[in-house]
Amino acid sequence: MQKLVINGGKTLRGELKLQGSKNSSLPIMVASLLCGEECVLKNCPELTDIYSASRILNSLGCRCRFSENTAVINSQNISTTEISEKLMLEMRSSIIFMGAVLGRTGECTVSMPGGCELGSRPIDMHLSAMRKMGAEIKEDYGRIICRVPSGRVHGARISLPFPSVGATENIILCAVTADGETVINNSAREPEICDLCSFLRKCGADISGDGESRIVINGRKKLHGCEYRIMPDRIACASYLSMVSATGGELILTDVGVSETEPFISVLEQTGCSIYTYDDRIYLRSGSRLRAVRDRIRTMPHPGFPTDAQALLMSALVTADGTSVFEENIFDCRYRHTDALVKMGADIQVLGKVAVVKGVAKLHGANVEATDLRGGAGMVVAGLSAEGITEISGISHIDRGYEKIEEAVRHLGGEIQRV
Ligand code: EPZ
Repeated sequence: MQKLVINGGKTLRGELKLQGSKNSSLPIMVASLLCGEECVLKNCPELTDIYSASRILNSLGCRCRFSENTAVINSQNISTTEISEKLMLEMRSSIIFMGAVLGRTGECTVSMPGGCELGSRPIDMHLSAMRKMGAEIKEDYGRIICRVPSGRVHGARISLPFPSVGATENIILCAVTADGETVINNSAREPEICDLCSFLRKCGADISGDGESRIVINGRKKLHGCEYRIMPDRIACASYLSMVSATGGELILTDVGVSETEPFISVLEQTGCSIYTYDDRIYLRSGSRLRAVRDRIRTMPHPGFPTDAQALLMSALVTADGTSVFEENIFDCRYRHTDALVKMGADIQVLGKVAVVKGVAKLHGANVEATDLRGGAGMVVAGLSAEGITEISGISHIDRGYEKIEEAVRHLGGEIQRV
């Protein structure tokens, strides 16, 4: 089992090019299944979750090749509509193959998806939407068997009880080639949804309202292939900004989607960091010690503060001057990183959805274990600012979301090794 070993206390400085977005690449790779032709996806990060999506596409009979951050997917042939449980368990996004395979073939068999353990992650909204679009769904010893009796899904009016990112993606993927109009009320507004819709429009889909709370899709009989560039990764952006600010350093981050990062940088600015944006660049200069954030940091659906950045910012604020308060409103178990931070000397009290972080003067290195992707990245943030050696195990979680994280950190002057 590999580990990341960090010799902390070095100030990070330099310029870094941001990776493409994982959470945008995944649904777009799935969407390419609907085109029946070749799609070329540029700026795809090389990550384990992306390779899982590629394995699922190949298992369905498509051809997916990967080189130099470009995925070439040919979906002319589909030879099966069933995804094995083993592949389903590799990541959460496996569930959105359901909408695409159903949309293309009128049937599919899947099982519960894997992914980070952040509390109960049901798929009730996904299943209820597929039923509304004409699917009959049976559960049989863990297999979820979906079939549309007429052979073709149809449009529907769907109101989501919560703006779920995955459910919105699944419905879009099912609806773009369905018969008739689909309206999604209370749809997720995350930038990755807009990127998925931009890709699908380039393939000939008729979608409007993405980025707002009501998306309207008119099903088209056929889509075509295209070449598309994936948007930058706003959570990787938040990660590198957190690392540099925690070490009192300076960063120029290029290839950034500045507007998508605004909910995060507007909070980071309150810690006393100077942040300037220009075109697709962010410049950050951090003082010697961060200030605590005075207002409660509430995670909310976009454009609120992103839940994926909660552990990252918390790991920078554990050594800030003063007390910061977090409120996690999206997942019911997303404070698993706090035990590791406390082991490193942080003062954090968790009570239900609230975490109170009293800034300490410094952290010390420790042996810690990543238990989910962003919590693990938070441990990298903490390890870089701590005195001494931090050994992080469980790094397969981190590898799901960060492309060559140790190279990026070393490039900025951090001491980190993969052993
Ligand atoms: C996506 O997960 C992201 N994953 C997550 O990022 C991100 O944290 C999350 O959206 C919220 O922004 C990908 O894009 C691959 P949801 P998703 O459906 O789609 C509940 C990362 O670190 N819910 O918006 O699974 C659910 O339990 C990952 O990159 C239901 O109750 O999130 C949660 O409490 C981690 N029933 C809330 O909604 C459902 O049918 C939001 O989940 C579906 C969801």
